[in-house]
Amino acid sequence: MARQSKAGVINCDLGMSKPFDIELERLTSQAPYSEIARGAAAGQRGTFFLETFGCQMNDHDSEKVAGLLLSRGYQQVETPEAASLILYNTCSIREKAAQKVFSRLGEYREKQNEGKVIGVLGCVAQQEGEEIFKRAPWVSLVCGSASYRKLPDMLTQLEAGNQRVTGLDTDTDATFETEVTRRDNPWRAYLTIIEGCDKACSYCVVPFTRGPERSRGSDSILKEVRQLAELGYSEVQLLGQTVNSYADPTPRKMRFSELLLAVADVQGIRRVRFTTSHPSDFTPDIVEAIEGQPKICDHVHLPVQSGSTRVLRAMQRTYSREVYLEKIAMMRDANRPIAITTDIIVGFPGETEFEFEETLSLLDEVQYDNLFSFKYSPRPNTPSLSMSDSMSEEEKGRRLAVLQDRQREIQSAKNARLVGKRFEVLVSGKSRRENQWSGYTTSHRMINFASQERELLGTYVQVRVTGASPNSLVGDHAV
Ligand code: 5AD
Ligand code: SF4
Repeated sequence: MARQSKAGVINCDLGMSKPFDIELERLTSQAPYSEIARGAAAGQRGTFFLETFGCQMNDHDSEKVAGLLLSRGYQQVETPEAASLILYNTCSIREKAAQKVFSRLGEYREKQNEGKVIGVLGCVAQQEGEEIFKRAPWVSLVCGSASYRKLPDMLTQLEAGNQRVTGLDTDTDATFETEVTRRDNPWRAYLTIIEGCDKACSYCVVPFTRGPERSRGSDSILKEVRQLAELGYSEVQLLGQTVNSYADPTPRKMRFSELLLAVADVQGIRRVRFTTSHPSDFTPDIVEAIEGQPKICDHVHLPVQSGSTRVLRAMQRTYSREVYLEKIAMMRDANRPIAITTDIIVGFPGETEFEFEETLSLLDEVQYDNLFSFKYSPRPNTPSLSMSDSMSEEEKGRRLAVLQDRQREIQSAKNARLVGKRFEVLVSGKSRRENQWSGYTTSHRMINFASQERELLGTYVQVRVTGASPNSLVGDHAV
C-alpha cells in the first residue's frame, strides 16, 4: 500500500508571517562553499540526515520537515556521513536532553570543513538562539519550531551559500502545515492540532521554546485525516502540548470533543488517540465522547506532576489535588474503562518528605496504568529557577526510585488482572523469533503475542492475554 503522498506544492504561508528574521551573514570569507550551495547552483538538491530528540511533537515536526525537504528535491539518508545537510531537532525540557545536543554537535566539528551544512532545530535552537553560533560556529541554521513555516525561505538562503540563517521569532499566530509529511510510522499517523502553550507551569521551558498556543483550523485537520484514511492509515493520534485546550479558529468553532467525534467519523478511521491533556481543560464532554464513540481510544494521558496541592500551586499548575481527583472520578464513572497515565516530577524546589508522600498516596488512589517520572531539572527563563533548589541529586534520585517501585507494584497487580481477557490489537511489530508479533490495544497497552499467521502487520486481531509483567502483556492470537 502506498504510504507516501507525491511531492506537492509547499504551503509557505508568507501572507501571515512577520518580516523575515533571517540573518544573512558570512561566517568568514574563507568559509568553504557548501555542498548544498554547489548542488543548488547545479540545479540539484542534496541529501539530508535528520535526527530527532525529545517528545512526540518533535517526532512529528521532523516528519513535516522531512516532507518539506523531500518535496524540495532533497533525498533522505540514514547517516550524517552520507548527508550534505545535517539537521538536529532538539529538546530542552530537562538539562540532560539539552546537553546531548551539544555533545552531538561536538561530534560534527570537522564536518563543516567537508562542506556539510549543519542545522539545529527545535527547543534548544529557540532557547539558545544565536549563542549556538558562538558555541558551535560550524552550525549554519538555528531555527525554533514557531518559525518552521519559514523553512522554505531559510533553505533558499542556505542553498545560496549563506552561513548563518536564523528563525527565532515566537510571536506568531500561525501553525506549521506542509503539503507533504514523511510519516515514519506506517500504522499510526500523528497530527498536530495545537502548537505552543499558554499555560505557565513554573518549571517548564515550553511556553518559551514553542511560543504561544495556536490551534489549527478544524477544516484543515479533517481534510488531512480524510487524506490519511485514503492512504490507508486507520489510526490517528492528535497532538498538542495541551491538546484538549484546542480552540478552533474557524467559524465552526468546534470544541475539542466535537473534533474527536468528527475525526472518528471519517471513513476508514478505526482509532483516534490524543495526547497530552491538561487537567484544567479536561471537561466532561471529552469523557462523554469516549463513552459514546468506541473509535476514540480508552486512554487518557493526564499529567498530574505532584500529589501535593502546595507543590501544585508552586508549580503554577492551576488545579489542586482535589480538583485533579474529580477529573479522575469522572473517568472512573464512565461506562467503559479508561486507562489513565501521567507525568510526575519529584524534588521540585521545597518539596518536603510529607509532600512527596502525598504524591505516593495519589498513585495508590488513582492506580495509574503507567507513568513517566522525572527528577526536577532547573531550566533557563523559568520562574522556578529563582526558587531555592537545595535538594541533593541523591535525594531526588531516592524519591524517583521509591516512586517508580511503588508504580511497578501497582502495574504488576493491574496487569495480572488482565490475564484471560481478550483485546483488539493493531499489529505493528514482528519479532525475529518465529510467529511472534506485537501491537497495542486501544488503551495503549503493549502486547507480545504468538500467531501462526504469515502476515499480520497493520491488521487488527483479537489477542487473549496469557501472562503479564509490569510493562507489557503476552498473549495468543484468538481466532
Ligand atoms: N524538570 C523535570 N521534568 C520536567 N518536565 C517538564 N519540565 C521539567 C523540568 N524542568 C516534565 C513534566 C512534563 C514532561 C513532558 O516533562 O512532567 O509533563
Ligand atoms: Fe509545560 Fe505546563 Fe505547558 Fe505542559 S502545560 S507544556 S508542563 S507549561
